[in-house]
Amino acid sequence: MSHDLPLLCVPPPGPRSRAQAARLRRVECPGFGPRRKLRAEAAGAPEHAAEGDGPIVLARGAGANLWDVDDNRYVDLVAGFGAVALGHGALDAVLARQGGRLVQGLGDVYASDVKLELLERLARLHPSGAGQVLLGQSGADAVTAALKTALLATGRPGVLAFDGAYHGLSYAPLAACGFRASFREPFRAQLSPHVRFAPYPGLRGASVEAALALVEQALRTGEIGAVLCEPVLGRGGCVVPPGHFLGELCRLAHAQGALVVADEIWTGMGRAGAVSLAPEQQAPVDILCFGKALGAGLPISACVASEAVMESWTRHGEVVHTSTHAGAPLACAAALAMLDWLDAPGRLEGLRARGSEARARLRQVLAGAPGFVEVRGSGLMIGVELDGAGSAVRATRALVGRGYLALSGGLAGEVLTLTPPFDLAPALFEAFGVALRASLEAAAGSGAR
Ligand SMILES: Cc1ncc(COP(=O)(O)O)c(C=O)c1O
Repeated sequence: MSHDLPLLCVPPPGPRSRAQAARLRRVECPGFGPRRKLRAEAAGAPEHAAEGDGPIVLARGAGANLWDVDDNRYVDLVAGFGAVALGHGALDAVLARQGGRLVQGLGDVYASDVKLELLERLARLHPSGAGQVLLGQSGADAVTAALKTALLATGRPGVLAFDGAYHGLSYAPLAACGFRASFREPFRAQLSPHVRFAPYPGLRGASVEAALALVEQALRTGEIGAVLCEPVLGRGGCVVPPGHFLGELCRLAHAQGALVVADEIWTGMGRAGAVSLAPEQQAPVDILCFGKALGAGLPISACVASEAVMESWTRHGEVVHTSTHAGAPLACAAALAMLDWLDAPGRLEGLRARGSEARARLRQVLAGAPGFVEVRGSGLMIGVELDGAGSAVRATRALVGRGYLALSGGLAGEVLTLTPPFDLAPALFEAFGVALRASLEAAAGSGAR
């Protein structure tokens, strides 16, 4: 697998990237344009430069490296938003094998053998040890399935979600999006009005006691059927709550007849150091959502609940929730390969050790750098907080120029959120830290931090 340092033939974006980005702007929904403009402005570039510059355009990947259409080689610390956990190309043989057998089946009408095998494996991940599963394509699908399940099981439409949390942007999860109210605003007229928000411990200084007190208050209304929670806040800035938070949440919810939905779409499948964080934290959650790394790059997600909770779907006498590609054999084969990888002895210990080492190295390299606040995270879900709104947005742009791909998160775009391939070489973490430090120093020198 390719784990090489960056190699830039031309300063990115090169001429081919610029030309293809210009073509892209003509045919892609312009809804992504404002983001590019904001990024360019945050990076200190004038607006017309954003229009002319555009982003790089990617062409191929191998291991921890990506190449753009100008043949610039980058180190990938994003890995498909955390999905390509085993690195680019890791599943080539699995996909070729399943591609030669059956790519698309007949979903919920006639199951495929690989789908059956996957459901059996996923069902065991429920804290009860015997869950049942609804498959989808995206994380938002899994959260939608979970919220529908909770409504059917409890009869209550109320959802309690958390500030800073992100669960996807189709309507059910969008209504529960605490990451930014501005994401909900344009669609408010079509969103569920039954969602309340509580503070997330560790975010904006919220204590776990204060958060749980507000949770309890909301639950006492008797309107809440689902408490939807990320065990570690991902897009909200890699915020790790105290270990007892999720367990306490379950205790409070269950006392009031509500179900707890753990959104492990970012944290799960090894990313935060466990296949699922909920059992690690002794939290008897009712419904689990997996996505992202589950398909190791292929689109597949899962909502896993206990048999007793899933039973509520049988009251309708007809199929009221399904989709064309749910449980497609190719994606199921990818997910099975991912679960096999995680099940091999020593994998999770290895991930946790690699994550701690990466965070320690980054702390070491970045100590005293201008605008560096802290490194935090769990497993290989790593947040690097910088100082000031938009600081991480500016850093991601500077890092592209040095051959490193990272994303920004956090409520004010102040956290670099890293979700690298699981086997990213320690030397590349170090090299990334050095590049980030150089970017921060250059920005401080030019007064553009
Ligand atoms: C915790 C969490 N839940 C849900 C989602 C939505 O997943 P998708 O973008 O696949 O719909 C995301 C995406 O980033 C996420 O981080």
